[in-house]
Amino acid sequence: MYDRSTQVNRSVDSINFGIGQPDFDLLPHALIRQVAATRFAEGDTELLNYGFPQGDGRFRWALADFLSQGYGGEVQPQQLMTTAGASQALDLICTFFARPGDTVFVEEPSYFLALRILQEDHRLNAVPIATDEDGLVPAAVEEALTRHRPVFLYTIPAYQNPTGRTLSRGRRQALLALAEAHDFLIVADEVYHLLDFGTPPPPPFAAHADSGRVLSIGSFSKILAPGLRLGWVQTAPERAQRFALSGLADSGGGLNQFTSNLVRVALEGGGQRAYLDGLRRTYRERVEAMDAALRREIGARAAWRVPGGGFFFWLTCAEPVDTSVLLERTAAARVGFLPGRRCSSVGGQSNCLRLCFAHYGVAEIQEGIRRLGQVFES
Ligand SMILES: Cc1ncc(COP(=O)(O)O)c(C=O)c1O
Repeated sequence: MYDRSTQVNRSVDSINFGIGQPDFDLLPHALIRQVAATRFAEGDTELLNYGFPQGDGRFRWALADFLSQGYGGEVQPQQLMTTAGASQALDLICTFFARPGDTVFVEEPSYFLALRILQEDHRLNAVPIATDEDGLVPAAVEEALTRHRPVFLYTIPAYQNPTGRTLSRGRRQALLALAEAHDFLIVADEVYHLLDFGTPPPPPFAAHADSGRVLSIGSFSKILAPGLRLGWVQTAPERAQRFALSGLADSGGGLNQFTSNLVRVALEGGGQRAYLDGLRRTYRERVEAMDAALRREIGARAAWRVPGGGFFFWLTCAEPVDTSVLLERTAAARVGFLPGRRCSSVGGQSNCLRLCFAHYGVAEIQEGIRRLGQVFES
């Protein structure tokens, strides 16, 4: 299996916590088979044809209902633009709202592939903004605003990739006020928002979609299956319509007609909700297992907080060590992780590392952390 995080092949006896995706056994094979059969049995002519540029109407109604329930506030289908996943949504936003050389604010650290979309694909000037246990620091945004005029701020507010941290309610309000006062957009990558393990995060930025300041990105990659390549942008209806008028969406007949039609059945029939509830239970067990193993095997040699949702633990080593160099030592121990440096727009975070708990069951997590403990020891 190809691993996008570390760009190596997954070998049978190696445990690579750098892989940021669910394992094969966890994926909803039966559900997708069942909704595909239902959808084909309906026998309409639209399924395999071009669709509506903003995304299939019945899908967006079903998604709006699902999100209204999950977010605890009304979501309207007119606010939704269907995309081919969150990555493609971010790319679309860059195409519409930024030009090469423009400045954007990013969290330090942030999701390494989003940084690549911003910095390499769109040649934007990504300015890192400090984060702490409560997420982005508004005072740091204010300070950066004295020197820069960003077109948007890119944030992952709930169970952030890579730190697992969640932006507090007060800070969300503070950032919205700054966006209004300094005329920039907030691009909130909310792909982990619905993936809490018991206590929901503060209301999403999506709740402010109609303000005209917010573009909230969502995806089925983390709550159903990444191979579906299905996501959305939630924003003010006139903005969502503008996306639909793009040559890309219009020429393509919508960005994901086929799988959105299948997923619509899973949303309407409750299969998505039931699957997500199961995922949250499974991930909670894995988080607990990883935390217990880390306490046992790593102890005071690193510091971490137990994430309340999402996919990741973020470890800060007690001794100064470059985790990119440490990673070279892990090959012999047959264990892997994502070094902190990969998650920085400025080559920082070298003392940190990211561990994903979504890809392995409890026994493999225990064994992998045991091996990691040996690497820390040596
Ligand atoms: C914060 C964040 N955004 C986007 C993605 C990619 O999402 P998608 O598969 O929908 O493109 C990921 C996946 O790791 C992620 O962690």
